[in-house]
Amino acid sequence: MTIVTDVADLQALAKRRVPKMFYEYADTGSWTQSTYHENEAALQRQKLRQRVARNIDNRSVTTTMIGEEVAMPVALAPVGLTGMQHADGEILAAQAAEEFGVPFTLSTMSICSIEDVAEHTKSPFWFQLYVMRDRGFSERLMQRAHTAGCSALVLTLDLQVLGQRHRDIKNGLSTPPKPGPAVLADLALKPRWCWQMLQTKRRQFGNIHGHVSGVDDMTSLAEWTNSQFDPTLDWSSVEWVKKHWDRKLILKGINDVEDAKIAADIGADAIVVSNHGGRQLDGALASYEVLGDIVDAVGDRIEVHFDGGIRSGQDIFKAVAMGARSTYIGRAFIYGLGANGKDGVTKVLEILHKELDVTMGLCGETDIAKAGRHNMVL
Ligand code: GLV
Repeated sequence: MTIVTDVADLQALAKRRVPKMFYEYADTGSWTQSTYHENEAALQRQKLRQRVARNIDNRSVTTTMIGEEVAMPVALAPVGLTGMQHADGEILAAQAAEEFGVPFTLSTMSICSIEDVAEHTKSPFWFQLYVMRDRGFSERLMQRAHTAGCSALVLTLDLQVLGQRHRDIKNGLSTPPKPGPAVLADLALKPRWCWQMLQTKRRQFGNIHGHVSGVDDMTSLAEWTNSQFDPTLDWSSVEWVKKHWDRKLILKGINDVEDAKIAADIGADAIVVSNHGGRQLDGALASYEVLGDIVDAVGDRIEVHFDGGIRSGQDIFKAVAMGARSTYIGRAFIYGLGANGKDGVTKVLEILHKELDVTMGLCGETDIAKAGRHNMVL
């Protein structure tokens, strides 16, 4: 029995329990993976200032994101194929997030559908939108998210075309998995995953299957993405989305000060400083490296959120101290989910909360709202 003390323990468990093609889909970056690794490394390099002999009783890490109260500055990021890490993965992760008091973001490329997640949760979740060539389909997705009560739309701007992830090609990533000999040999080692997957009917892209004519079998995710995602997406498309969405709008995938300024001008509610977890432009700066400049440029006009490399409460504290209102976790919660379903996601949230709370205290702070660059060695 593994005694789980940190996210890395859950990652190791997920690696044992989740079929290789899905575990590696999450645990990869594009091409050389330099940006993927650099996201974590940049956070690791940042040193904190230890302050002592202060009263650090009664600490609080609660805050708000786009006006919604959150138990800590963390939201669950949209992750495609979450329902392949564990049967009914999106529903389980959304329930864990809801119970903990942090937002859950459902990906367009989820397995459980918008309606399905809404049916199994009580509070509103957020919906991440990929704009498709078929704008009618994108419009219908927004309508469905609206009807399901989603309180925010997270519009992804950094995936008009797909950065190549070598392992997905080598593994023949598809959903549901095509039963070739290598896949069958791997599945034979993952009986728990197979058993749970056999109990659910959710094994297709729930938001797409049955909603787009002629798309029954998405043999290759990469092929489907490349043929359906809209490469013409530009700032006028963002205006178009705004016209069709009257609730909160979050623009995800900003990794440059100039883009942050345009996003602020356009009047979104928040931006997410992100390079898509190092899965798109290999060679892009780590998102932590650009966070400070973006906060300085637009932080007084728009809420700045952050993702990329968050694996611990210390990482969350650093991003918030640098000026992010809040962070998103992608792989971190996916590892918990793959390791142990809903309980695994809850465990990740508990670990991060405790690490954040204690780290904040050891920096001499009692309120996350007061964390700032004075807490770091800059
Ligand atoms: C899609 O969002 C991906 O990064 O695979």
